[in-house]
Amino acid sequence: MHTNVWYVDENVDIEKYYPQIVEAAECLKRDEVVAFPTETVYGLGGNALSDRAVAKIFEAKGRPADNPLIVHVASRPHVEKLVTMIPKQADELMKAFWPGPLTIVLPGGQSVASNVTAGLETVAIRMPDHPVALALLKAANLPLAAPSANLSGKPSPTTAQHVIHDLSGRIAGVVDGGSTGVGLESTVVDCSGDVVTILRPGGVTKEQLEEVVGKVNIDPALSDDGHQPKSPGVKYKHYAPSAPVTLVDGSKPYLQSIVDKQREEGFKVGIIATEESKAFYHADLVIPCGTRNDLVSVANRLYDVLRKFDESDVDEIYSEVFTHEGVGAAVMNRLTKAASNRVIKE
Ligand code: TXA
Ligand code: MG
Repeated sequence: MHTNVWYVDENVDIEKYYPQIVEAAECLKRDEVVAFPTETVYGLGGNALSDRAVAKIFEAKGRPADNPLIVHVASRPHVEKLVTMIPKQADELMKAFWPGPLTIVLPGGQSVASNVTAGLETVAIRMPDHPVALALLKAANLPLAAPSANLSGKPSPTTAQHVIHDLSGRIAGVVDGGSTGVGLESTVVDCSGDVVTILRPGGVTKEQLEEVVGKVNIDPALSDDGHQPKSPGVKYKHYAPSAPVTLVDGSKPYLQSIVDKQREEGFKVGIIATEESKAFYHADLVIPCGTRNDLVSVANRLYDVLRKFDESDVDEIYSEVFTHEGVGAAVMNRLTKAASNRVIKE
């Protein structure tokens, strides 16, 4: 299959006509799948009302069928058509954070294709805060099911080049609107019960959610392997570069001592550092991942850094750790997964 690339300005005016966006929307209406930028990561979109289109998303990504998709919408009336009810707390969250990096799990989902929800009685919905995504949703006039536009298991794409690397020849096209903003996927919250529960940490933090709806729970499966996660995707291997990643919870000299030992044994070793610490380390490849003072910059760089190691020939990767506060919760969630839970404590 030939994969089209449609270049658009990242600041398109959603009220205006862009032939590239209309062409991409036409593909979506024909049940083809198209990747597009959002403010978090690139998504791989398909008509959420069509089994055929949704099946193509799973096939292109190599995604397990029991992992449900997020449905993207451009307006509130679209949400009302997809759910059986909107609980009060969900309504407050939509008003506070949409459009934005917050996905809300709501009761319903019978009106979307059955493979979107993987048989669950809930549906996950979000309104992305990116002019290109909103323009495409408007032009297609469809709810779009869209997981991250990477091959299953790989780091999510934050540029169209990442998408092309993973999915060229497997999808109808990609709308290239430059690099994404947040750099980590949306926060997923369950609003189908009494207390709002975080199923996946992301750009919107627990602290920000609590300012709007009071107490917020965290799905125990996020910190404890014994629990069955409510968000099926959370249990899969994720975000992993080819070389194994290990987190080092300790000082810089300690991390360096581990790296020295591995290099003496003949391994090529990479380090995920920060702008503050990169000059301290000696290894085969040291890549800074943002500045420690600004966790948003770490979130922003993380997937690109993980992908850069895939272009290198390192055998092993060691990474510094970050605080779990604020956006740090999402950063550490993704890093811990990339490391398949391998952590060495000093
Ligand atoms: O930022 C994002 O959320 C990006 C962009 C493209 O919007 N999308 C994204 O999709 O990250 P994906 O498929 O990679 O992750 C969706 C997550 C998975 O962990 C999935 O299990 C969960 O949302 N999910 C989807 N529907 C659900 C439901 N009904 N109940 C619980 N979890 C659900
Ligand atoms: Mg994903």
